[in-house]
Amino acid sequence: MRVVLLGPPGVGKGTQGRRLASERGRALISTGDMLRDAVSRQTPLGIQAKQLIEQGQLVPDDVIVGMVRDRTLESDTREGFVLDGFPRTVPQADALDAMLAERSQNLDGVVLLTVPDEELVRRLSSRWECPVCRRVYNSQTAPSRDGCHCDDHPEQELRQREDDTEATVRKRLMIYRVQTAPLVDYYRSSGRLKEVKGTGTPDQVYAALTRAVAG
Ligand code: AP5
Ligand code: MG
Repeated sequence: MRVVLLGPPGVGKGTQGRRLASERGRALISTGDMLRDAVSRQTPLGIQAKQLIEQGQLVPDDVIVGMVRDRTLESDTREGFVLDGFPRTVPQADALDAMLAERSQNLDGVVLLTVPDEELVRRLSSRWECPVCRRVYNSQTAPSRDGCHCDDHPEQELRQREDDTEATVRKRLMIYRVQTAPLVDYYRSSGRLKEVKGTGTPDQVYAALTRAVAG
């Protein structure tokens, strides 16, 4: 199973991707999580990406494509993967198709999650994240057990992302519309797009997602 989760910031790609990958025994590849790990480890990639991420801008395509190419060669991806946050430009989508064709592989589906913009802003202003495992919580709708530490890392205080301020979220939404939304037609025109409403509880969204991936 090789699946892409597509959709704007806050739509639930990370929440749903983590569960889908774990229940299907596939690798979750989140380019955002990989970049945030690189920033916190202060690697050369992290140093290059930090400011762009904090300003809500995209990291250059060649950097991201190289990162995904390497990651998809690791052994845990052999049975497939769930891509969260990649591709998000047409050149990245072309590079993914070329990469898979070189390996005689296909994408099984691209799932577009949709949620109204105001709900996205609300979700992101109350999102909290574990800096160790990147699991996301929500102080309004999905708090951790004690409300401030990660359930899986009880010593670890949850943090808010630098790019989750309202102004940066609105900028990320604008960049999504200009640079990433064209992928909807890109995948629709090749018959690979499935749409799933991202509203409702995470369980309801997951049920719709698994139906879309199966069908
Ligand atoms: P990335 O980390 O990919 O961020 P994003 O696309 O903006 O998406 P988010 O992670 O904000 O949202 P999500 O859809 O995962 O939602 P979540 O499940 O957390 O990218 C960050 C940055 O990295 C980019 O801006 C760019 O700089 C760089 N980057 C990454 N990939 C790149 C690429 N390919 N090319 C170039 N640059 C790249 O849910 C959000 C909140 O809502 C949570 O609190 C959650 O608990 C809650 N929630 C989830 N589902 C529900 C529900 N059904 N009901 C109520 N609340 C819910
Ligand atoms: Mg995410």
